[in-house]
Amino acid sequence: MSEFAGFLGAAYLWVKAAHITFVIFWMAGLFLLPRFYVYHHATTPGSAEDRAWIEREDRTRTIILTPAMVIVWALGLMLAVHLDVFRQPWFIAKFALVIALTGYQGWISAYGKKLAKGMRPLENRTLRIMNEIPGVAAALIVVLAIVRPF
Ligand code: HEM
Repeated sequence: MSEFAGFLGAAYLWVKAAHITFVIFWMAGLFLLPRFYVYHHATTPGSAEDRAWIEREDRTRTIILTPAMVIVWALGLMLAVHLDVFRQPWFIAKFALVIALTGYQGWISAYGKKLAKGMRPLENRTLRIMNEIPGVAAALIVVLAIVRPF
């Protein structure tokens, strides 16, 4: 037992509620941004429409995605310390998926910077397939956190 286990005391359920609320915001951003890219792809680099998408994508990243991700991580780690779950297989699997999702966010953010430079590196079809990643990851993470199959 870690000496910090149970440190949240009566705040535990409030922290868990906040964790899930910010997970919803984070996932909303992860679904939104790549969808914007599909529309952005259709614009001519340098056009007014292109600039409008760059602005929307920037705001989605700075107002929703980055803050939500940081808060989900902070609250999730607090819950993990409180429950002392670091050696439990469901948690290790969930943690690995969350790291992958964070990497995915890094990748889509980098892709947005390429779009802003007028590049269109991926085919629309590939982009649409990539867009399925956060949905699949979220479903697996929720099963791991709630069902805890192992
Ligand atoms: C960023 C790293 C994350 C960490 C360290 C983390 C950790 C935790 C921990 C320790 C719990 C407590 C479980 C309990 O009270 O029994 C929890 C609950 C939960 N987490 Fe996370 N989490 C993270 C990210 C996420 C993400 C990305 C999702 C969804 C996509 C998610 C979905 C949930 C759900 C649905 C619960 C509630 C489970 C229950 O009812 O007990 N978490 N999380």
